[in-house]
Amino acid sequence: MIQHSLNLFFNPSSIAVIGASRTPTKIGYETLKNVLVSNYQGKVYPINPNASHILGLKCYPSVLALPYDVDLALITVPAKFVPKVILECGKKGVQGAIIISSGFSEIGENRLEDEVLETAQKHGMRILGPNTMGFKNATNSLDAAFVYGMPRKGSIALISQSGALSIGMIHLANSELIGLSKVIGTGNKIDIDDADLIRYFSQDSATRVIALYIEEIKNGKDFIEAVKHCHKPIVAIKAGKTKAGAKAISSHTGAMAGSDKIYGSVFKQTGIIRAHDTVELFDFTRALGSQPSSKGDHIGIVTNGGGAGILLADACEENGLVVPPLTKKTYKRIDDVLPPLIHPSNPVDIVGDAGFYRYEMCSRALLEDSSIDALIITSVQAGYARPREFAGAIEKMIYEQHLHEEYDKPIIGCWIGGKEYEDLVIDLKRAGVPIYPSTTRAARAIWALVEQGKKSFRFSKKSKN
Ligand code: ACO
Repeated sequence: MIQHSLNLFFNPSSIAVIGASRTPTKIGYETLKNVLVSNYQGKVYPINPNASHILGLKCYPSVLALPYDVDLALITVPAKFVPKVILECGKKGVQGAIIISSGFSEIGENRLEDEVLETAQKHGMRILGPNTMGFKNATNSLDAAFVYGMPRKGSIALISQSGALSIGMIHLANSELIGLSKVIGTGNKIDIDDADLIRYFSQDSATRVIALYIEEIKNGKDFIEAVKHCHKPIVAIKAGKTKAGAKAISSHTGAMAGSDKIYGSVFKQTGIIRAHDTVELFDFTRALGSQPSSKGDHIGIVTNGGGAGILLADACEENGLVVPPLTKKTYKRIDDVLPPLIHPSNPVDIVGDAGFYRYEMCSRALLEDSSIDALIITSVQAGYARPREFAGAIEKMIYEQHLHEEYDKPIIGCWIGGKEYEDLVIDLKRAGVPIYPSTTRAARAIWALVEQGKKSFRFSKKSKN
């Protein structure tokens, strides 16, 4: 039942914009315009009792006056008119409504919200919001939100309690060349909430990873149930960790932040991977969306710069990961390709003149070593080494040869340098290769793959140090 109603929600055949405005500065105008300029293929009907045409489309005074069926209503009338509009939608047989309007429980108008929910439930209608930006479906190019900005098409579903933050995150993901499947502002969550969306996305073929920005979860039991049954990686930012943050939440949506310790232990128990900010959220989703989960916490490091290797070893250990010694066989293989006088260890320092071949040979040796579960390949723009050699090796190993699939071990890249590297990794990022410009970010991304592995597999004895 939930699946069916949310399917229609994200893939409606027809949309009514109720409160579509003639004035370009109003939200009702922007909302209608967004639906029209997106590549939405269904029917669109503006509803406004005071207008005959808006943006070239015939207007109807109410949904009840519309001689066609409507699957989804986008509501942009002032809050006090919303209960009547919802009642009309119910009578019309509208399946779902997005209430963009503010002025409900976030300012203490709980009764208005209760009335809306009661009417919607009576008519079997699903509600997103109120006080929401709406949603953006990159899979079918439907922009059902009032704020501009469409994500690149991809496989990460983003669910956010803050509309503005979700838009900022779309722009961040776009500039990081990360594709999203759908972006939803949950607003006050009177009906559709995080649990419903997790259930939906766990079955959505366009979605591989679910990302959440949470201020509060109202129905904790249902949320935990939904997460437990979801077999896709879930990454979440939980805001309001501190007293100042919790206070800011209550003035943002009127919600209670709840104890951060409780959220932390629920995340741990259910396997939700906690990200601390928006950059980290996308670092994690990029890795989880393209690499297999790690079957253990033993990390191999290949680097052309000793300092970068040490920083990575520190960052791995600080995140509870292990940088173990390698087998004798692996040392022998590495020794064969390294210049004389270099003693192989982990991190494997392939030194400043490392070219394509040395990166590839040493990486393969580590992937074939049973004491290694995951690999970080690093390059420092040290002048002596040509950045193209590193980028080419990563491209070949991950993008062309799919070594992460062949060995069923995650591989990520890390680089330290300037513009030349940044330009070289653009194509890699576009292809979904997880590659990061900092040792801390790379180690955290590997940590996320290890955490996901803990949920997917029971780690073998070797991994427990
Ligand atoms: N049915 C259809 N249309 C109606 C009805 C009705 N019953 N009643 C009025 N209208 C029309 C109006 O005539 C008007 O059209 P017009 O401009 O052509 O005359 C249009 O609906 C809008 O009504 P207004 O009274 O002009 O309302 P306004 O646009 O000023 O405000 C709004 C409405 C935007 C919903 C406002 O009340 C509001 O809630 N703003 C905040 C929205 C918000 O921020 N939401 C949270 C998003 S999350 C984030 O921050 C990213």
